Amino acid sequence: MSDIPSITLNNGLKMPQLGQGVWRIPPEEAADNVRAAIDSGYRLIDTAAIYRNEAGVGEGVRRSGLPREELFITSKLWNSDQGYDATIKAFEMSLDRLGLDYLDLYLIHWPQPMFDTYVESWKAMERLYKEGRVRAIGVSNFEPAHLERLAADCEVVPAVNQVELHPRLTQAEVRAYDHEHGIQTESWSPLRGVIEDVPPVIQELAVKYHKTPAQVVLRWHIQLGLVVIPRSSRRERIRENRDIFDFELDAADVRAISALDNGGRLGAHPDTMDRR
Ligand SMILES: NC(=O)c1ccc[n+]([C@@H]2O[C@H](COP(=O)([O-])OP(=O)(O)OC[C@H]3O[C@@H](n4cnc5c(N)ncnc54)[C@H](OP(=O)(O)O)[C@@H]3O)[C@@H](O)[C@H]2O)c1
Repeated sequence: MSDIPSITLNNGLKMPQLGQGVWRIPPEEAADNVRAAIDSGYRLIDTAAIYRNEAGVGEGVRRSGLPREELFITSKLWNSDQGYDATIKAFEMSLDRLGLDYLDLYLIHWPQPMFDTYVESWKAMERLYKEGRVRAIGVSNFEPAHLERLAADCEVVPAVNQVELHPRLTQAEVRAYDHEHGIQTESWSPLRGVIEDVPPVIQELAVKYHKTPAQVVLRWHIQLGLVVIPRSSRRERIRENRDIFDFELDAADVRAISALDNGGRLGAHPDTMDRR
């Protein structure tokens, strides 16, 4: 049994609020990593074509022995596969590598506005959604301006916007836009901005709540209403990261963590990220 709460997306689909991210998990370790996460109670796994570990993720899912419908599997369309036909083909290849017959969530990985193909890619995502091959479609690294374009030219409102988000980059503007438009914000790199060099305020809160700094930070994401997908390659941390549903941060402590925002971005800016 899993005590991880779910949130309801704008199309009624339930999504676990905490999942395991598998970026940088080597292909040969992905099956064990995913199996360990599922055994620890995780149901949401976040992969992408560019992580080159979809086959291992699928293997981990099968090894878990859980019925497919109990799991929530996300993958992402890589930048070089944008465009209408290429999107359909890339989706099919991801399913094939995963060994699954549907995805729960498929995301456009980056908007890449300089190539101007995200609108036609989104129309292909809409087709996949209408055909029932994916239960929800969304985007990643979309700024409000990119979302506005989808709103003007497309039918389906993205269910999710997965963006870099942690105490050093709280993304207030993106969160406000998403919230106003019924889009669920999901935090990528939820820990990295603060876990290597833990700020004193988080150290103090860890002592106050008898939790680890990582647990305090993940709890902050949960209390902001975000979906959060930490990654760990270690079983004990996979367990640690899910053990965050037995305490609650006071509102003032949530604000103190948010006050760490210094605009510190770890990844590229969505407007200029042009890697294919
Ligand atoms: N859409 C996008 O563009 C995008 C970009 C980046 C990431 N993502 C997604 O977001 C997921 C998470 O982001 P991320 O992988 O960048 O980083 P993260 O989850 O913020 O941090 C991972 C790092 O933190 C360490 N860690 C994990 N749990 C810990 C704990 N309890 N205590 C101390 N250290 C801990 C891990 O080391 P160990 O492995 O040694 O535990 C690893 O070095 C990715 O895996 C991926 O699925 C999406």
